[in-house]
Amino acid sequence: MRAALAFVGAVILVAGCREKTAPQSTPVSIDASQPALDAAPAAPPPVDAATGELMVTNHCLSCHSREIIEQQRLTSAQWSKVVAKMATWGSLIGPDSEKLARYLSDRYGPQSGPWRPKSSDANEARKAIEPTKDGPLAGGNAALGKGYFAANCAVCHGADAGGLVGVNLVDRAQLFRATEFANSVRTGRGLMPPHPITDRDAANVLAYLRALR
Ligand code: HEC
Ligand code: HEC
Repeated sequence: MRAALAFVGAVILVAGCREKTAPQSTPVSIDASQPALDAAPAAPPPVDAATGELMVTNHCLSCHSREIIEQQRLTSAQWSKVVAKMATWGSLIGPDSEKLARYLSDRYGPQSGPWRPKSSDANEARKAIEPTKDGPLAGGNAALGKGYFAANCAVCHGADAGGLVGVNLVDRAQLFRATEFANSVRTGRGLMPPHPITDRDAANVLAYLRALR
């Protein structure tokens, strides 16, 4: 409840700031191009998908899956309540709450049609984690990989790859899917920025991570 009040307070504050910066009209010169002071405030523009998804990734997915969000069909008032509740439960969404609630109600509102859970059969699931050939990423040097990891990856994945901001990398299926591993690093994923790694360095890091099991 207190968070909900704080949220309302924040909206009023923001509205207050907007008024202060609105163009002042002077009584003498009446300029028709100036917006009328008593005009209703224009609806804020929609939040683009990249910004919206970044907020969801950064502030909503540390505790539960994306599906719990995607399967909702909530009105804008209901989304505001959910976001305020998640903030009291520990989401660090902060001043972006209003923006996120707006994004979520545009994307997952009553107008959005039925939610279809992704179905994958057991075969596909197995294929997604079974080992693939190492190819050019074979024969890495674990000692060199250790140094490379300490310099480039440990800040997020932890000194022993046990996980920090980045996920635990010990004993992951991806360690035996070398091409996919290198692609994850090169293209970035979620909170991981893209990192241009050479085949040789990727092979070395793989040798190091595999030995941590
Ligand atoms: C600190 C952990 C945490 C964070 C961060 C978090 N949630 Fe939740 N969320 C929960 C818990 C716990 C539940 C209820 C238990 C469950 O079913 O998983 C929940 C449930 C939900 C539900 C189901 C409906 C409901 O109200 O219970 C929605 C929707 C939801 N969260 C959306 C969000 C959104 C959007 C964000 C980002 C602003 C977010 N969550 C961030 C912990 C969190
Ligand atoms: C800025 C923080 C950060 C840095 C630096 C970083 N990572 Fe990550 N990494 C992450 C996060 C966060 C994830 C989880 C992404 C997701 O799926 O949401 C991740 C995921 C991964 C994955 C996918 C794991 C899996 O099984 O899904 C691999 C592989 C990986 N990182 C390797 C590396 C390597 C190798 C380096 C160093 C070259 C590195 N990362 C540097 C944050 C980082």
